[in-house]
Amino acid sequence: MKIAILGGTGPEGSGLGLRWALAGHQVVIGSRQMEKGQQVAAELQAQAPAAAANLSGMDNLSALEGADVAVLSVPYSGQERTLAGLQEALAGKLLLTIVVPLGEKAARVWRPPSGLAAAEEAARQLGEGARVVAAFQNIAAHHLADPEHVIDCDVLICGDDKADKQVVIELCAAAGMRGVDAGLLQNASVVEGLTAVLIGINIRHKIKHAGLRITGI
Ligand SMILES: NC(=O)c1ccc[n+]([C@@H]2O[C@H](COP(=O)([O-])OP(=O)(O)OC[C@H]3O[C@@H](n4cnc5c(N)ncnc54)[C@H](OP(=O)(O)O)[C@@H]3O)[C@@H](O)[C@H]2O)c1
Repeated sequence: MKIAILGGTGPEGSGLGLRWALAGHQVVIGSRQMEKGQQVAAELQAQAPAAAANLSGMDNLSALEGADVAVLSVPYSGQERTLAGLQEALAGKLLLTIVVPLGEKAARVWRPPSGLAAAEEAARQLGEGARVVAAFQNIAAHHLADPEHVIDCDVLICGDDKADKQVVIELCAAAGMRGVDAGLLQNASVVEGLTAVLIGINIRHKIKHAGLRITGI
């Protein structure tokens, strides 16, 4: 697949991009500035020469050209503006959002004032026909950076379309994780909130990698 990572210059998007490129996907690191996207792509190429041909960097809009999947990897504060500028280019595309809305105190669950999940807000903004799936909210960037590191976590996946969620389950596997269908997009509210819970656990236990496993499947 060709995967465009909007805001892929940050630690979460670049870590996922590196893993997907190593798994054989074409990954474009998107940025508000083309040079920054190119620079981060070059750094990832240097880190993983075997996947260099699968990595490139561009501005967010150019990154979307021909992409099968778009990944929204910007802070929640930049979500609305980012989507507004890319609405046409995103039409009909699967948008995988990894965005977590966090308040001033990151270890306390904070919800957007709309009462919706950030992922639902994205779907509403994109309008009819939007294909939004939420995943990776609970996977710390710390886990992703080293592609050799085995991630002892499951990925909860929320979305309204089974086929789109199946694509994301495959992307979880490509990044070295098990994806678990966690229901409709409205459930993303809880999944997004769980990140604050994990941040609090990290702080109290002085660790960087608290994660979730679903048992019984
Ligand atoms: N870090 C984690 O451990 C983690 C874990 C799970 C989920 N997440 C979520 O995943 C998303 C990405 O995480 P991250 O840590 O990689 O984020 P980040 O470093 O704060 O931001 C990612 C990229 O977004 C762009 N950006 C920053 N502010 C922006 C704005 N106001 N408007 C538009 N673009 C903006 C920047 O790219 P350019 O300057 O190149 O445009 C930046 O490199 C966030 O929503 C975060 O909550 C993070």
